Amino acid sequence: MKVTVVGAGAVGASCAEYIAIKNFASEVVLLDIKEGFAEGKAMDLMQTASLNGFDTKITGITNDYSATANSDICVITSGIPRKPGMTREELIGINAGIVKSVSASLIEHSPETIIIVVSNPMDTMAYLVHKTTGLPKHRIIGMGGALDSARFKYRLAEALGAPISDVDGMVIGGHSDTGMVPLTRLATRNSVLVSEFLSEDRLNQVLEDTKVGGATLTKLLGTSAWYAPGAAVSGLVQAIACDQKKMFPCSVLLEGEYGLNDICIGAPVILGRNGIEKIVEIELSEAEKAHMQESAEGVRKTNGLLAL
Ligand code: LAC
Repeated sequence: MKVTVVGAGAVGASCAEYIAIKNFASEVVLLDIKEGFAEGKAMDLMQTASLNGFDTKITGITNDYSATANSDICVITSGIPRKPGMTREELIGINAGIVKSVSASLIEHSPETIIIVVSNPMDTMAYLVHKTTGLPKHRIIGMGGALDSARFKYRLAEALGAPISDVDGMVIGGHSDTGMVPLTRLATRNSVLVSEFLSEDRLNQVLEDTKVGGATLTKLLGTSAWYAPGAAVSGLVQAIACDQKKMFPCSVLLEGEYGLNDICIGAPVILGRNGIEKIVEIELSEAEKAHMQESAEGVRKTNGLLAL
């Protein structure tokens, strides 16, 4: 199993690190445009191999896509991250050009690859890859919901005063401050609905804190987060590599599901060796349906800024 991660910044390096630590991939190639940067990150990470007990071989390369040839999975993290006060949507001008050329170069060397898009605004970048590469939809996966769901579970556990392993919950919709649809109605603590434990007000607070999860961290860190994004990507990569058939909310091209068409947006999917093996349609409440439609309108507005 060969995995390429494009962009050796904090998110890309964190992806490579978590993939290696989980020890399921034979090879991870880290690629960056900055001379020597990916090589340095790869060497530093490889020097953790004996300490962390992994056998994954991580190599770094400066902008030479031939080194990525025959990758089973390629992760695109390249582009500029958010600065405090910025929305993910404001990154589109620079990131669209980068994601378009990176995805074309990756596919040239790995025509059978599955692509995981992380660069923001992520749903629009996944749609751009869909529109410009001609890859089948099951091989284009946007990473947002897995991260937003992890942040949701963190906030739920905090509100419940419970360990995170007690908590389950999912965030669908767009990966944006206003677009996320945290499914508080369905969230549980050990199969008991969290509404049994938390007031409506407290649950609304959890919902609001989840939606601005990335922005809160950007304000604290001065740039966007990397540990949880990296861990979330590694979970998707592992589910594909190990054919786990696990369910994650991912940005996927919808063709009628959830009443939406011609849009990449977060919905629950089953991930296995073929990438997206199924889109799972769950029954939403009227409020959730409305929230999902609103979220889609936001994503479409950003998609409209693409020069397709
Ligand atoms: C975040 C970025 C990765 O939410 O979108 O932290």
